[in-house]
Amino acid sequence: MVFYKTPAEIELMRESALSVSRTLTEVAKMLKPGITTLSLDKFIGEYIRDNGGVPSFLNYNGYPFNSCISVNDVVVHGFPNEKELKDGDIISVDIGVFKNGFHGDHAYTFAIGDVPADIMQLIRVTKESLYKGIEKAVVNNRIGDIAFAIQNHTEKKHGYGVVRELVGHGLGRKMHEDPQVPNYGRRGEGPKLKEGLVLAIEPMINMGTKDVFTEPDGWTIRTMDGKPSVHFEHDVCVKKGKADILSDYTPIEAAEKANIELKTEEAATA
Ligand code: MF3
Ligand code: CO
Repeated sequence: MVFYKTPAEIELMRESALSVSRTLTEVAKMLKPGITTLSLDKFIGEYIRDNGGVPSFLNYNGYPFNSCISVNDVVVHGFPNEKELKDGDIISVDIGVFKNGFHGDHAYTFAIGDVPADIMQLIRVTKESLYKGIEKAVVNNRIGDIAFAIQNHTEKKHGYGVVRELVGHGLGRKMHEDPQVPNYGRRGEGPKLKEGLVLAIEPMINMGTKDVFTEPDGWTIRTMDGKPSVHFEHDVCVKKGKADILSDYTPIEAAEKANIELKTEEAATA
């Protein structure tokens, strides 16, 4: 069953999505080698509740943390843990906030310190592919148009692997609503997009093989070849002509940039 949101509901969803964006921004400011993902998760849970929300992921199908933090070859659904992040790691931080009856659910992949150029390119291309998908999230297009745009940019153009086992989804009063939003597919196929449909579009793109496996913990998804994987996710409302992106990367990117500048300064004075 597909639920279309009214303009008033869309504004409530924007607030939930922006609440995730603000949490990710605070995380961006904290990131550096030596920090543990468990400490980030603890902060995330407290920050969400301090701002009047509830972490959507906690206890979802028994999920035991506030957030999913996926390092290097972990694709998604990584458990926060006591291991320290190190220079050269990449981490996807995926957060859900339930507020005013609606979920926000989005993710961003960060580089820790100096990351090799080929991995930085994987990050850049995956983010670009998300926006190429979003461009297609307009009235009268189909889910396959979004899917094709993402696959075309990542797999066909750059030779990366598009994960098949996990997909984006409708978003609303439930975290996972219809329809599914695959990151691979054909133009003109799948459900037609109508005004007020809110989608979580979330490319999961592997440097190497598209194949993944689930760890014995039942959650952690890793690449089969151990090569890195990148995940970006936005909450998007389908509109005529141009999609309305409810989440916002602007403050996250500003925090990311400030971190890089600080690092450059430190290196210069060292
Ligand atoms: N954003 C992810 C998704 O859409 C994370 C949810 S999994 C959870 O599936 F269990 F942690 F909630
Ligand atoms: Co999602």
